[in-house]
Amino acid sequence: MLYIAIEAVKEAGKFLKKNLGKVRQIDLKSGQERNLVTEIDKKSEELIVSIIKKHYPNHDILAEESGSKHGSKSDYRWIIDPLDGTTNFTHGLPIFCVSIGLEKRGELILGAIYDPNLDELFTTEKGRGAFLNGRRLRVSTTKALKDSLLVTGFPYNITENPDHCVEHFVNFLMSAQAIRRMGSAALDLAYVAAGRYDGFWEVNLNPWDMAAGVLLVKEAGGEVTNFSGKELDIYGKQIVASNRLIHEEMLDVLKKAK
Ligand code: IPD
Ligand code: CA
Ligand code: CA
Repeated sequence: MLYIAIEAVKEAGKFLKKNLGKVRQIDLKSGQERNLVTEIDKKSEELIVSIIKKHYPNHDILAEESGSKHGSKSDYRWIIDPLDGTTNFTHGLPIFCVSIGLEKRGELILGAIYDPNLDELFTTEKGRGAFLNGRRLRVSTTKALKDSLLVTGFPYNITENPDHCVEHFVNFLMSAQAIRRMGSAALDLAYVAAGRYDGFWEVNLNPWDMAAGVLLVKEAGGEVTNFSGKELDIYGKQIVASNRLIHEEMLDVLKKAK
């Protein structure tokens, strides 16, 4: 199944790269002011779904642009983000990826994230580690928040529901070494797994943003929870992922927002 996930993220990733700068139609999702979707997101998803369906016609599929209409009642659920970083993509900014995670009876068992711009393939299987282009990954060894490079993102609906986003951002600015905002949550998580970032937090993500990345971080030795330090639910709305060593410090900062 990992080979099928790899085939799908690579095919879709190549398709995205070929179409960078060629977006013809940009729509807003259900009238939301900032949440964009293009014909490229949809075609990328069709490509992925057709590859998975060819091999596993009875598996469930939860895909960002078409929801979960592709089947039900299987033990397996493929969770697909056909283009993570759509806003970047529509501006021609080459920071985006394709992300696929697979659950078996509700437990994440594998994930693949492909960045076609850097030709970086992140893969993981539960209990078998995390890899970048076949090389084993470990989270960073940074011990203190003050020495940490963090990354975050902001939800599309920030004007209606700021959810302390700006407060958290300011609080981390005051306590970490530096903060980045790349615009692709799946890559943010893959980079925590790779030790490029020490930690990541965000609110209001969807399961397709997190599924593969969460397993990557855990399999690379990191920790992933909600803001209360409880086990992460990818269908929930808060995520903190770290190299484990700075996790408590990150949770303490997140408690500060009133
Ligand atoms: C978005 C990206 C972004 C995050 C947003 C996501 P999309 O996904 O992951 O980094 O801040 O919350 O929705 O829409 O580009 O697939
Ligand atoms: Ca996404
Ligand atoms: Ca997307």
